[in-house]
Amino acid sequence: MSAAALACVRCGHDSEDLLGGGCSRCAAAGTPASLSTVYDLEAARDGLLAALDGPVRGIGRYEAVLPVAAADVAAPDTGDTPLVDAPALADAVGVGRVLVKDESRGPTWSFKDRAAAVAAAHARRLGSPGLVVASTGNAAAATAAHAIRAGLPALVLFARGVNPTMSAFVRAYGADVVVTPTKADRWSLMRHAVGELGWYPNSNFASPAVGNVAYALDGYKTIGYELWEQLGRRAPGAVYFAVCYGDGLAGVGKAFDELRAMGLCDRGPRLSGGEIYGSLERALRDGAEVVEPAEVDHETAAFSITAAQSTYQALRAVRGSSGWVSAISEDELAAAHRLFAERAGFFVETSSAAALAALVRDRAEGRIGPDDEAVLVCSSTGLKSIDHDAVAADPPLIADASALAEHLATTRGKR
Ligand SMILES: Cc1ncc(COP(=O)(O)O)c(C=O)c1O
Ligand SMILES: [Zn+2]
Repeated sequence: MSAAALACVRCGHDSEDLLGGGCSRCAAAGTPASLSTVYDLEAARDGLLAALDGPVRGIGRYEAVLPVAAADVAAPDTGDTPLVDAPALADAVGVGRVLVKDESRGPTWSFKDRAAAVAAAHARRLGSPGLVVASTGNAAAATAAHAIRAGLPALVLFARGVNPTMSAFVRAYGADVVVTPTKADRWSLMRHAVGELGWYPNSNFASPAVGNVAYALDGYKTIGYELWEQLGRRAPGAVYFAVCYGDGLAGVGKAFDELRAMGLCDRGPRLSGGEIYGSLERALRDGAEVVEPAEVDHETAAFSITAAQSTYQALRAVRGSSGWVSAISEDELAAAHRLFAERAGFFVETSSAAALAALVRDRAEGRIGPDDEAVLVCSSTGLKSIDHDAVAADPPLIADASALAEHLATTRGKR
């Protein structure tokens, strides 16, 4: 762990505002941008390499490039997720290799565990009275659970219309859950909780959005460090994520920026993904420097990634890596959700399937080739969105062996 300074990802301004909602200069200029941690990477390199030979697993393994020490992390079962080859899925998509980074294995079954574990540890270190989050579910559950592990209270702000399964799941942790009339109201209450009450934020609360606070974002970097290690200390060809504010994708990009700066990797992966309303796709296509809001023109089954306006950090990470973000239709999402389960054996949250839908689209539109390698991040488990999924027809009722034989003769012909 080294003491991290903060700098703006757009203008480079160093900020003293530890838990603020992004760069104040860029906000004033109308070009919102997030802050990012800055480490003494020369000093961190030795610590990182020593840890790679050591016994610590999970996010604490990368304490040399985190704002907290491994010993501060109250949930050592966070991170260290499997990277699984999916050859049948690679065949179905028509690319050389697909690997699935299974983030549904965390304490609350999503990649959000990584940020929450860092946020909770950092909050405890700073003496914050608690953690506060505005979320559609996954970040809320992670915040609630990791706050408990760290011995702190959690305040969860949901907007009206929150998915009922998510709400029940989060309330099970005993967090203080509040519902606001609109999404924007969550952020104003959160600004109050952070600014006036000193609570530690674990989600975006700026408007326009800039993403989560810089320290918590470092939790997502550990996905990148793990990929690098799991692949024998190299970058994958591309990483695909379901994208909302791009915190996860930007975190993976930052890991490879740091690894390159430390001389431990010669290039980063292409950073790509799927979003719903298309604000990033449009900014990428237009060569824009600001992500403008997209029209929210349809309901989506991907209730965890419903932002109309994504962030500059996401745009910068994707553009800088020669990646792409596609706006995914509901049909593409449903098809990818089935493909993930039927060809790779991963039952993912509906939102998570946007990653695979983006890979399928990139293959169809020639942005990825037949020999290329892609990592798909399984960002959360399908059990969280089960009430949203179009489940296949009811199974037949069969009691005798001949009816079973007849049934199998029909179904086996289907593949
Ligand atoms: C399941 C799932 N996947 C992906 C994301 C993408 O989030 P972001 O792009 O902000 O990292 C989220 C965000 O809530 C999520 O819940
Ligand atoms: Zn700035």
